[in-house]
Parts: sequence; C-alpha cells; structure tokens
Amino acid sequence: MTENRVNLYSLTDTITPWAVRAAATLGLADLIAAGTTTLDELAAATKANPDALHRLLRYLAVRGVFKETEPRVYALTEAAEFLKTDHPAAQRPWLDVDSMAGRIEGTFSSLTHSIRTGDAAYPVRYGIEFWDDLSTNPDRATSFGALMATHASYFDQVVQGYDWSTVNHVVDVGGGTGALLTEILKAQPHLRGTVVDLPGVVEQGRARFEAAGIADRAEVVSGSIFDPLPAGADVYILSNVLHDWNDSAAEKILQRAADAIGTTGKVLIVQILVKDENDNFPDDPARLMFITQMDLRLLSLMAGKARTWREYAELGEKAGLQVAGSTVIPTGQTLLSLRRG
Ligand SMILES: C[S@@+](CC[C@H](N)C(=O)[O-])C[C@H]1O[C@@H](n2cnc3c(N)ncnc32)[C@H](O)[C@@H]1O
Repeated sequence: MTENRVNLYSLTDTITPWAVRAAATLGLADLIAAGTTTLDELAAATKANPDALHRLLRYLAVRGVFKETEPRVYALTEAAEFLKTDHPAAQRPWLDVDSMAGRIEGTFSSLTHSIRTGDAAYPVRYGIEFWDDLSTNPDRATSFGALMATHASYFDQVVQGYDWSTVNHVVDVGGGTGALLTEILKAQPHLRGTVVDLPGVVEQGRARFEAAGIADRAEVVSGSIFDPLPAGADVYILSNVLHDWNDSAAEKILQRAADAIGTTGKVLIVQILVKDENDNFPDDPARLMFITQMDLRLLSLMAGKARTWREYAELGEKAGLQVAGSTVIPTGQTLLSLRRG
C-alpha cells in the first residue's frame, strides 16, 4: 500500500523535472565544475535571485542532483555531471527551457487532448502547428536545428552501420542542418551528398559543410519532403523523419523517396523502433522507456508515432518497397534499408 503511494507520488511529481531544467537552463553544473561554487557567486553569474536560487539548490541537493558541501557551497553529484554542456550524452540542450526543448516539453500539459482525439496537443497549447511554428519563427527553427544536431552523438555509428562502398550520391531527406550528411561525407571521401529540408533549416547546412571542408561535395536543397525529391541518387536517408508523421503522411513521404530511387537505389530509414524484426520489445528497460516515452512526445507534438519494424515494413510495401536489410547500431537505432519490390 505504502509502496504504491510512494511510487505514484514519484510518477506524478512535476516539480523535480522542471527544477532540474531550471538548473540546466541556468548552466549551474558548468559553473560549479569551473569553480563557481558559492551561492552568492552562482547567483551573480546566473543573474538569479539569491534566495530563490538557494531554495532550488537545496531541493536539488535533497534529490541528489547537487551536494551542499558546506553551508551555501555546492558540488556536483554523478547526476549533475549529465547537466554539463560538454557531457557526451548531450542532455543539457534538451533540458534548457529557454530553447525549443522547453516549448516541446510544455506540450505535455495538454497530453489528455491527444489521448482523447489522437491529434497533436501542440496547437492546443500554443495556437499553432509545430512545423508552422518553426517556419514562422526563425529563432525557434534555429533552436530546434541545434537540438536535432545533438543526434550527432551517434551519427558515427550510422555511418559505420551501412556499406557505402557502392554508393556515389546520398540524399538526406529531412536532414535538418546537415549534421548526419557531414559525418557521412567526412568518413566517405568518394561520396557526394544532398540535404533536403525546409528553407529556414537547411540553409544552416552550408556553414556546417564549409566548416567541415566538404562544401564541394555537399549541396542543400530547400523544399518539402512531400514534393518530388532530387531524383537519381543511390541512397535516400530518412533519419528521425517518418516518426514525425501519421501513417498516411509517412506513406506519402516514403512514396516520394520510392519515386526518386529509380530501379537500383535504396531508401535508408534510421529510427529507434518499438519492436524489432521478431516483434520483440527492446530487452533494455531504459531503452523501452525511452521509445515509449518518445512515442507520446511525437503524438503530442505533431500526431507522429514511434513504430515497430513490421509497421515500417508495411509502410514500405504500400510505397512499393521491400526490406533489403536491417541493422541495429549499438545506441539502439535500426538502419532499415528498402528497395523496389
Ligand atoms: C526530427 S527532425 C530530424 C532531423 C534529422 N534527420 C535527424 O535525424 O536529426 C525532422 C526534420 O524534418 C524537417 N521537416 C519537417 N517537415 C518538413 C517538410 N514538409 N519538408 C522538408 N523537411 C521537413 C524538419 O525541419 C526537421 O529537420
């Protein structure tokens, strides 16, 4: 009985997630790691109210995120290490409520609307569809692009997980600011690539390609993934794109890729799956929690959906495509390769 009550309390607590986000947004872990450890110094550096900051740190010390080593002097715990900007898990940008991440998570207060209707909650919360919000607010588009670029923490595994030896030209459909394409082209000097995305997003790819020294092999195409794609490339990547859309929209996007591949090209879907090829959930409970949580995030943001291997194979069939190969990379994403049936 008591245990159930305690569990429900910890499951329904909304204060801790926002308190951790406040600490991440203020950059407290970076400051403490750099030696700014007293309350007064931290309040000055973050332009925070000292009394309110003290109460935040006191609560987060109670929850094991920070330690109070002597009165009003703080240190990091193992959990706080994850809040540092340079931590390889790249969590901080996703916890920064001043960025698109704050707006994204705020959508969950309207989750019930999505459960009742199957529609996105984002427009109910903010009065505008998710993608329209980005299209009409360049700062939000830039912020979302930066969040997507944190996927780069595993993009090297995507590069290693696929055989590029017979590929000449790759198109990254909905490839954002070109973070994945950059990894691919850097690792495979024989390749050239194209990234297709919305105007406010894809232009940011140019600077990335210049900085990586691949601008002569990489182009950006500003356009919609629902319109015809540049035709004739060997591989069309859809990385974290199809899950943003309901089945009928995802089928249309896959059809655009199927139309572009000609007879020999491939479509490469990169996604974390709810169930694998054998219809099994991931063994790792943390991974299962992540993907089922992501599913609700996709539902509430844009009526999107996390899918199983079989559901992607069926979507492919509707677009005239068959599974040609499937690999799971160590971070859990599946590379699902499709060709004409
Ligand atoms: C979830 S992000 C994935 C980005 C990247 N592929 C990755 O794996 O990190 C989805 C991408 O689809 C793009 N997108 C959404 N609607 C689009 C449309 N109608 N046409 C082109 N791109 C679109 C977004 O701008 C965004 O870059």
